[in-house]
Amino acid sequence: MTTDYRFLKACRNEPVDVTPVWLMRQAGRYLSEYRSVRSKVSFLELCKSPELCTEVSIQPIDILGVDAAIMFSDILVPIEPMGMKLDFNPAPVFEKPIRSQADVDALRVIDPEADVPYVMETIKMLRRELEGRVPLIGFSGAPFTLISYMVEGGGSKSFMKLKGMMFNQPEVYRNLMEKVTETVIRYLKAQTAAGAQALQIFDTWGGILSPGDYLNFVLPYTMRVIQAVKTPEVPIINFVGNSQGIMPLVAQAGGDVIGVDWRIDMAEARRQVGKEKAVQGNLDPIALLANPAEIDKRVKEIIVAAGDTGHIFNLGHGIVPETPPDHVKALVDSVHKHGVSHRVK
Ligand code: CP3
Repeated sequence: MTTDYRFLKACRNEPVDVTPVWLMRQAGRYLSEYRSVRSKVSFLELCKSPELCTEVSIQPIDILGVDAAIMFSDILVPIEPMGMKLDFNPAPVFEKPIRSQADVDALRVIDPEADVPYVMETIKMLRRELEGRVPLIGFSGAPFTLISYMVEGGGSKSFMKLKGMMFNQPEVYRNLMEKVTETVIRYLKAQTAAGAQALQIFDTWGGILSPGDYLNFVLPYTMRVIQAVKTPEVPIINFVGNSQGIMPLVAQAGGDVIGVDWRIDMAEARRQVGKEKAVQGNLDPIALLANPAEIDKRVKEIIVAAGDTGHIFNLGHGIVPETPPDHVKALVDSVHKHGVSHRVK
């Protein structure tokens, strides 16, 4: 098996021919090809069908020419078999949120091969169907982002229930984090065993806390996941949303690659992360609504700011459904153009 992909080399901080690019939520509603598959099934049915997940994961490889595939699923898929009924409307909803120690006690730690067999089957099928064209990224939500949905019951603006539990019932918070951390570790190990060639941890909501609370209530659990899952062969990308005030702590939590949100300048992120790790990011997803010339200018700035090695181009968060697909194609072409010229001395 080759490990000589530009994406995997950049994850390992090795020199590459061209800056690699993939995009968070690259399989999704902005593509008519995705909407056509999705029109026939519910979102959860899609997540539970390896054939359809494989099809929509490969769409952006064929259409855009990105340098990595990400398995299609959702971060909340492994939470359902912990014992929580999940719906999407399209935003996620848990009817019975976790509010007490009794609720935590009722949760079970999952056995991924038995409880979410369709995810492992998707990974195996994708490896076969990709035929080595690009490497395959597996993923999990970070424990903190996962419990934010479990405690709030869905999305939130102020995270009052979650922070309320953290501040008023810290033992309940920690017991919940323990169970979810164990689930995430098993889930990511099973993905590696099934054939994932890199892993991304999505901590979308990690940046809603003060640095002190991140250090105390989040970092130890993310660190434990990374320590338990890491192998020399499979790089780990640690993405935290709104991380501009806590970059050195995010780097301390671990990962071969640090995912960078757009609210910090890439050169500054690079300084704060240090030279040992690679960085991934960090175009504002809404910049994809701008014209291709403007996109091109911004791409070049980010590539120059990131420096010569160890940069994977991405957005600072997921693509929005309103994005014109031809702008996304223009973005990928711009990265491949500037990623070369920047390196030719
Ligand atoms: O990157 C990819 O292409 C892989 C697919 C992927 C999805 N969700 C598909 C999806 C991944 C990696 C995720 C991760 C995810 N899911 C995160 C972390 C990253 C992030 O974007 O912050 C979070 C917080 C979720 C939870 C979630 N799932 C929300 C809040 C929503 C509703 C908002 C929205 O975009 O509609 C979802 C639904 C969801 N997950 C959709 C897709 C394509 C849309 C569902 C549909 O087709 O109707």
